[in-house]
Amino acid sequence: MKVPINRPIIGKEELEAVSKVVDEGYFTDQAYDGGKYVREFEKALESYLGIKHVVAVNSGTSALIAALLAANVGAGDEVLVPSLTFIATANAVRAVGAKPVFVDVDEYYTMDPKELRKKINRRVKAIIPVHLYGHVANMDEINEIASEYGITVIEDAAQSLGSTYKGKMTGTLGRMGCFSFYPGKVMTTGEGGAVATDDDELADTLRKVRNHGFTKDGSISTFGLNMRMQQINAAIGVVQLKRLPGFLEVREKNAYSYMKALMDVSGIITLPPIREGAKYNWYLFTILHPRRQKALEALKKAGIDARVYYDPPVHRTPVYSFSAPLPKTEMIANTVISLPANPLVKEDIIETAAKVLKESLN
Ligand SMILES: Cc1ncc(COP(=O)(O)O)c(C=O)c1O
Repeated sequence: MKVPINRPIIGKEELEAVSKVVDEGYFTDQAYDGGKYVREFEKALESYLGIKHVVAVNSGTSALIAALLAANVGAGDEVLVPSLTFIATANAVRAVGAKPVFVDVDEYYTMDPKELRKKINRRVKAIIPVHLYGHVANMDEINEIASEYGITVIEDAAQSLGSTYKGKMTGTLGRMGCFSFYPGKVMTTGEGGAVATDDDELADTLRKVRNHGFTKDGSISTFGLNMRMQQINAAIGVVQLKRLPGFLEVREKNAYSYMKALMDVSGIITLPPIREGAKYNWYLFTILHPRRQKALEALKKAGIDARVYYDPPVHRTPVYSFSAPLPKTEMIANTVISLPANPLVKEDIIETAAKVLKESLN
């Protein structure tokens, strides 16, 4: 495959950072603050996001589980999630013993506040909007509904690091925001994740949950697990975070090149809708195509790694049996194609992709 949908971009500086940590023989740290490199990475992220606390963990899935545990979500509770997401969003809810209840999406492919309101009941303890593909969920309305009912909002910002809404970073718009640094994301630490929050008490709980419930003074105060980020991963993250604005600049340029190249068929192929007040990180450039299978095969032949995120949607996987209709989710799952917008993509690839997509309409 010539053009990967996403791939980590790792250079000399990352290698040097890893080599330094290996030389020190410093792989992990059970310290409450995470240890030297983890803390350095957390501080850099706090500053990038404009938030008081970041707690780094060993995956995006762990970030979601830690946030749910910190919000005291457990058996008997319901958590409202979209079905159009990576399965980890729902699995994290299941992992803490709660029940995920699926909510349909709006025209931006993120949780629809109107549908959300219909699913509220006394058992709902948390809402997890997902900023899918780097698109931004309608956080104003979601937060408004949540505060009306005293429900915790945990953003799944695994795909949206660097996307903003009204000038604020996604992942800082709810009570907690969860990130993933998996190698396919806009920046990587290898496996890795983080939770961001402005709340001092939640940050303290998250630090404890990350390390078997140990407090700063070494006593056990709460349930936790081993979710610690390794020092090597954090050291890579420090370098990657510095490079992130440059990566996102190229992604944006690529997205607008796709838009331009596909403008004349925008009535037939649906281009990514951009929410007012939002700026996307263009983790994926996602379109709806009426003849998806034909388009996918032609793109593959041209060496372009286009993907379908996500079909089946989570509620139709064998792990979850959810019978309420989610018509918008189904329509998108049936026609969606994500194209590579990563920094390795060049103009000629975008032109080829556009040509192939147009030809496959016939
Ligand atoms: C929307 C979403 N949520 C959660 C995750 C889980 O993150 P991780 O793979 O780092 O556990 C991912 C990515 O993999 C994701 O895309």
